[in-house]
Amino acid sequence: MSGHRRSPQPAIALPTPRTADPATLVIFGATGDLAKRKLLPALYHLAVRHALPDAFTVVAVGRTPMTDEAYRDKVSADLDRFAEGPRDEARWAWFARRLHYVCAPLEDAESARALATRLEAIDAGHAGPVGRVYYFATPPSAMAGIVQRLGSEGLLVDTAERPRRVIVEKPFGYDLASARTLNHELGQVLAERQIYRIDHYLGKETVQNLMAFRFANGIFEPIWNRRYVDHVQITVAETVGVEGRGGYYDEAGALRDMVQNHLFQLLALTAMEPPISFRADDVRDERVRVLHAIHLCTPDEVRQSVVRGQYTAGASHNTAVPGYREEPKVPPASTTETFVALKLMIENWRWAEVPFYLRTGKRLPARVSEIAVQFRRAPLKLFKGAQAGTLDPNLLVVRIQPDEGISLRFQAKIPGAPVRLGNVDMAFNYTDYFAAAPANGYETLLYDCMNGDPTLFHRADMVEAGWDVVAPILEVVAASPDALLHEYPAGRWGPAEADALIARDGRAWRNSE
Ligand SMILES: NC(=O)c1ccc[n+]([C@@H]2O[C@H](COP(=O)([O-])OP(=O)(O)OC[C@H]3O[C@@H](n4cnc5c(N)ncnc54)[C@H](OP(=O)(O)O)[C@@H]3O)[C@@H](O)[C@H]2O)c1
Repeated sequence: MSGHRRSPQPAIALPTPRTADPATLVIFGATGDLAKRKLLPALYHLAVRHALPDAFTVVAVGRTPMTDEAYRDKVSADLDRFAEGPRDEARWAWFARRLHYVCAPLEDAESARALATRLEAIDAGHAGPVGRVYYFATPPSAMAGIVQRLGSEGLLVDTAERPRRVIVEKPFGYDLASARTLNHELGQVLAERQIYRIDHYLGKETVQNLMAFRFANGIFEPIWNRRYVDHVQITVAETVGVEGRGGYYDEAGALRDMVQNHLFQLLALTAMEPPISFRADDVRDERVRVLHAIHLCTPDEVRQSVVRGQYTAGASHNTAVPGYREEPKVPPASTTETFVALKLMIENWRWAEVPFYLRTGKRLPARVSEIAVQFRRAPLKLFKGAQAGTLDPNLLVVRIQPDEGISLRFQAKIPGAPVRLGNVDMAFNYTDYFAAAPANGYETLLYDCMNGDPTLFHRADMVEAGWDVVAPILEVVAASPDALLHEYPAGRWGPAEADALIARDGRAWRNSE
């Protein structure tokens, strides 16, 4: 029996957001890919929703000389490709007036001073005090130097009236040691309250809705524990390959690029205890506690509970695609993983003996991000004559992309005789209820940062706790680079060894239809 869905109610109009606090957003790396595809579209979307204040300015910083007009033309063309919906000309005109470009390589004090002068002139044009957000959309190697420069020019002096915040993009280090070094370098010139480590997954509505789902409803929390939950699966699957970013990706791999940050944060939100309030640090304290409770594997345990994979030539959307080692800028003998599956145990009262299976990869058959909580089977004896032995257990799926929503699978009787049972879904889709497509994550996070709300950002201790869990795996791989590595053809759900990993426990991956 398949689930049947219909639009349950007229869509609920979203309230107009309060405008963010006055701010100048300074983007370093403003000519790069992230700025073009994500940041400028997100800011434009906020402008369309009237969520930005009048006292708002973007100062795009780059190393290539360009006029304000030329930069506006570039952004306009980029929005044609990457913004959602037809152009709102009035809001674009509003937004474009606030876009400025400054050529400042920041390798010398002189260019930093020129930037400071421009920022002061912009501030002076506003009637009241204006906050500042510095966004680092540069390679990680450039960041520490620029931050130091900003500090020595007095551009990071943070006051309640004129907050100075810094948004840091992933990767937050390459391993535990480099993450600590980066945190230390930032800590030399910034207080932790000024540092916003961004993870766009946490800006997605469904991810935030996980907290509402768990803690604003009375019926789920009592069963959200080892007595009722059999196991949890967290999947972040992509159909794309490395998309021309082979050089960057080959240095990182799936463990560093996806598991240490996105997947661990999804796990933390799923497994955390209720916070004592929704204040930022109360929520973040609970998230980091879960990460600290994850069992740290010995090398032998790593070999039992981790599978790495690398795609070979295959098909994606019925089109032949090359293998990872044939991608541009990937070394032909690369041992970097494009897929990883792992089993983690959380050693606390709530989750003892409940496995959390995580997997992520490129060139998989579907683009899907979801958390699936599988409950224990019902006692089956009553339905023995009704194929009960083959019945699936209840399953709660929180889908983050695509089609954000939540569904609950349960058993129902198939009409007629004899008695037969089948799976049905109770499904909630965001777009059925709410009159706006969910945002890509950056809108929410940029808006939160302007308002000084760090709830959805990573704190230094969270980053280090994530690296702590990954460290034993990285050590096994460092000792033998092709350890745990298996091939899978593009278009398959990872290597067969990943299926064996979960099958050893008598379970199977939930592969999205
Ligand atoms: N692209 C994504 O979807 C994505 C997603 C998540 C995280 N990130 C992270 O975001 C950051 C930027 O990624 P990207 O893909 O946008 O990279 P990108 O396309 O290579 O752009 C990098 C930008 O940084 C500038 N830059 C390079 N070296 C610099 C230096 N030494 N000093 C000052 N500016 C410098 C470049 O300016 P020039 O034009 O002058 O060289 C360019 O504007 C990286 O940390 C990346 O890991 C990116």
